[in-house]
Amino acid sequence: MTDALAAEAPVRTMPPSDDRPAKISFRNITKEFVSQAGGPAMKAIDGLSLDIAEKDFVCLIGPSGCGKSTLLNLIAGFESATSGEVLLDGVGIKGPGPDRGVVFQEGALFPWLNVLDNVCYGPKRLSVPRQRYLAEAHAILRQVGLSAFAQYLPAELSGGMRQRVAIARALINQPPVLLMDEPFGALDPQTRVLMQEMLLQIWERDNRTVLFITHDVEEALFLGSRVVVMSSRPGRVLEDVRADLPRPRDFSVLKEPEFVKVKADLFALVREQTIAAAADSAGSTRPSRIK
Ligand SMILES: Nc1ncnc2c1ncn2[C@@H]1O[C@H](COP(=O)(O)OP(=O)(O)O)[C@@H](O)[C@H]1O
Ligand SMILES: [Mg+2]
Repeated sequence: MTDALAAEAPVRTMPPSDDRPAKISFRNITKEFVSQAGGPAMKAIDGLSLDIAEKDFVCLIGPSGCGKSTLLNLIAGFESATSGEVLLDGVGIKGPGPDRGVVFQEGALFPWLNVLDNVCYGPKRLSVPRQRYLAEAHAILRQVGLSAFAQYLPAELSGGMRQRVAIARALINQPPVLLMDEPFGALDPQTRVLMQEMLLQIWERDNRTVLFITHDVEEALFLGSRVVVMSSRPGRVLEDVRADLPRPRDFSVLKEPEFVKVKADLFALVREQTIAAAADSAGSTRPSRIK
């Protein structure tokens, strides 16, 4: 750990382990992809272990291509590990399930369904009686500030509103785990800030376990109770920082000297790994020409 990462409050770093049981466990995970085009097998993740405690908000950062989405897809049940174990409450993941809500960068909404029907799609598919989820759907739409848009189609909404629908859709099953893969990555900075605040409000109220992927160090430090930095591919855990800023958080914290310092350190670490990743992709071991 660098000196600045060992800084005092408001961002304190300490061992991520605590007494809470692990909600999510990655145990010595390796993931290899076989090229469809006959290229050599590609190791995306190599021997990665990570425990995420119940009600933790873990932000995962790292250079593009280091295996962040792969890791999220493993716990979501969309992919399986080549070796190692992926556990939820100590039980191996067999596939996707309503106990894990997933939000991607582009809300994969059904364009022919209105906002309310998009939000209700999950429970409807599980044959839950409509009266059991309708009140909840309206409550969640209120929570994400979209009550007035229940009857609108996705194409009639802004990008930020569509992501709010995607979040509402992930919340309708009241999943104990929320998995988010760069959910605000395509939004303009102002909308992004509002979405971050909204997500924190939801998390502070319900205290779900969150795994949140971002390439934005500031976003990670602002949102997370813990920031995990991955190495360039094959992905491993390089740094694990507990971000103990006071909650509820507000944006004044972004100017705090310690926040700025830890952010700069994390940024430097990710940059170093991004340069290593670029050198690796270029087939070089000395990234001397990359500035
Ligand atoms: N379905 C796939 N088939 C083959 N290779 C894949 C697949 N998904 C991801 N990869 C490879 O695995 C590596 C990690 O990808 P990914 O997890 O998407 O990275 P990140 O989300 O950190 O940008 C990349 O090199 C990517 O090319
Ligand atoms: Mg990704």
